Amino acid sequence: ATKGDMHIDPLRTVAKEMKFLTGNIRQLLGSGHPSLDRVAKYYTQAEGKHVRPLIVLLMSRATALCPKNESAPASAHDSINSSISPLDILSDVNPSKPLSGYSSEPEFSESDILPSQRRLAEITELIHTASLLHDDVVDHSVSRRGSPSANFEFGNKMAVLAGDFLLGRASVALARLRNAEVIELLATVIANLVEGEFMQLKNTARDERNPAYSEEIFNYYLQKTYLKTASLISKSCRAAALLGRADAITVDAAYAYGRNLGLAFQLVDDMLDYTKSGKDLGKPAGADLELGLATAPLLFAWKTTPELGSLVGRKFEQEGDVQRARELVIQSNGIEQTRALAEDYSQRAISALDTFPDSEAKDGLIDMAMKTLKRQK
Ligand code: FPP
Ligand code: MG
Ligand code: MG
Repeated sequence: ATKGDMHIDPLRTVAKEMKFLTGNIRQLLGSGHPSLDRVAKYYTQAEGKHVRPLIVLLMSRATALCPKNESAPASAHDSINSSISPLDILSDVNPSKPLSGYSSEPEFSESDILPSQRRLAEITELIHTASLLHDDVVDHSVSRRGSPSANFEFGNKMAVLAGDFLLGRASVALARLRNAEVIELLATVIANLVEGEFMQLKNTARDERNPAYSEEIFNYYLQKTYLKTASLISKSCRAAALLGRADAITVDAAYAYGRNLGLAFQLVDDMLDYTKSGKDLGKPAGADLELGLATAPLLFAWKTTPELGSLVGRKFEQEGDVQRARELVIQSNGIEQTRALAEDYSQRAISALDTFPDSEAKDGLIDMAMKTLKRQK
């Protein structure tokens, strides 16, 4: 479906929907308590990349053209009598603010994206943002998106509680979709994020002083990466297709796209941690080794450099370990191999869309898979 030299801007395809995203998310995060309100909305100020909602919206449009599962339940939002907007949630928690004071997109336009799918895009970003609030506490990060991290600005307690608040509001929005399968998928994502984070804290499958490299260790890393990063993207893609009442083949293809894209995305992330400066990334660079984490570039290097085993075993904790490990990784072909594996997953993501009819949205999804490899931060 790639049209040679034709320039595709995935954003343009869903620009109208994306325009309302941040505003709707901020409405979902409204709290009567001023300081909670401030911390909860903090990561919605700096412009994030909104990769996940962008993919959900593109997937919603791309799957609208695919075969339907006629017996699938319609979501509450999508029945013609439904007028549930993201704002209605606030009528319960923040009655002092008049609903008419908010602006929102028209719920029914000529767009083939359903209201429930727009809500899903917002929920996906909320869950992601909650995980970032918690992640920066766990990682002791002082910066995010070029600004002080929430934990640095407000302290750990506030950052953790704000993350919990986001998950609560995401759960309310999710329940409002009235689609049990979609609720189950996104609830599983939240559990998966924590499971991935726990696998990462333990770092390798076995705790040894001088471990030898093995395929088992690499598979553990991939499983962790799925849980930590790809689960959210893949299950959100699956949910987008389900909300559109797509047939089973399409739902599975949407999931496969998200899974492979998510894995490619994190592999690139792990590569950039070695190749970019903190200034370029807007967050600390070289952070993974400092945190004791052996990611793909190091695992590939370890294959041919057994010396790395003892450094991994003590989590790069001794004086000079981080510097030595970095040198060994850079001398090896670990970074190139990480890029090659990311390219492989990106290609698999694109292939997963083979059964989709050609469309601008499908081209947008293909472009996102290619852009994932080229991103610099
Ligand atoms: C970023 O990874 C972190 C994640 C993708 C998930 C972190 C998950 C938790 C902290 C568990 C709690 C989860 C929820 C749902 C609140 P990174 O540290 O590699 O990326 P970074 O460089 O952007 O910090
Ligand atoms: Mg982090
Ligand atoms: Mg982390």
